[in-house]
Amino acid sequence: MKIRKAVFPVAGLGTRFLPATKATPKEMLPLVDKPLIQYVVEEAITAGITEIIMVTGRNKNAIEDHFDRSVELELLLKGKGATDLLNLTRKITDMCDISYIRQKEPKGLGHAILRAKNLVGNEPFAVLLGDDIIYSTGKPGIAQLTDVFDKKQAPVIAVEKVPMENISAYGVIDYKTTEEGVEITALVEKPPADEAPSDLAIIGRYILTPEIFEYIERTEPDAKGEIQLTTALNAMLGSSSMFACQFAGTRYDAGDKLGFLKATVEFALRRDDLGADFRKYLKGLSL
Ligand code: UTP
Repeated sequence: MKIRKAVFPVAGLGTRFLPATKATPKEMLPLVDKPLIQYVVEEAITAGITEIIMVTGRNKNAIEDHFDRSVELELLLKGKGATDLLNLTRKITDMCDISYIRQKEPKGLGHAILRAKNLVGNEPFAVLLGDDIIYSTGKPGIAQLTDVFDKKQAPVIAVEKVPMENISAYGVIDYKTTEEGVEITALVEKPPADEAPSDLAIIGRYILTPEIFEYIERTEPDAKGEIQLTTALNAMLGSSSMFACQFAGTRYDAGDKLGFLKATVEFALRRDDLGADFRKYLKGLSL
């Protein structure tokens, strides 16, 4: 079955980015001149997704506004004859249909995804996290996962090798490599390095089947009161096979300050209009 729908959980508090995220969603922080969320929406659309479901929370209106028409701005740009900017603004609105549903309290990623249950219905769907930005010169990150799903018809999770000293910040998979591919045998949320089953960390791209909703419903909140997707996926392993996709491309953790800075610098260096001047500037720095 073709993946048509994608869930974007964007209701987190973004505490790692305070004070910037006090009134502004972290998904609206720009890499050069485009908000993080737009990069991820474009990734989904390029992969053939036609319906986007955003799970939002308080202080997230800027995301809805960004993908909505801005009549005043359009009139102003039209009046000034700024056709390129006008087209750029309209393109964002025309990209695809987006539905919004609220997660009233940030009770974890699993809880956020469960909010989308009725909008997803009974079909497989993608999940994309707005703070993981994947740069790829080939297929978009999520399209690499849908390719695996097309063959396996089972959940697919994006993973990346991470240095062991950083592994405790991630969900981590245990796996076996078979003719079928990399089959996941267990998932552990944020294990200490000496208990991590591997160095393959879960990255914010998933293809899930609708059965996951039952497992999330049965998942107890953790010590912090959050319902973790990883725990629900682990429980689902008993009745479904699950595959890992080590995607080709560069992943930036833009929800983290250092990751965000790296992404900003590298996206700017790749730009035709800025790259050369910015490179010259960086080379000349003597800080
Ligand atoms: P994170 O834990 O990385 O995001 O959640 P956060 O909670 O916003 O950020 P910090 O850690 O406080 O800085 C991963 C993704 O899941 C979403 C977030 O918006 C983010 O995209 N999320 C998380 C929700 O939608 N709801 C939640 O309750 C928790």
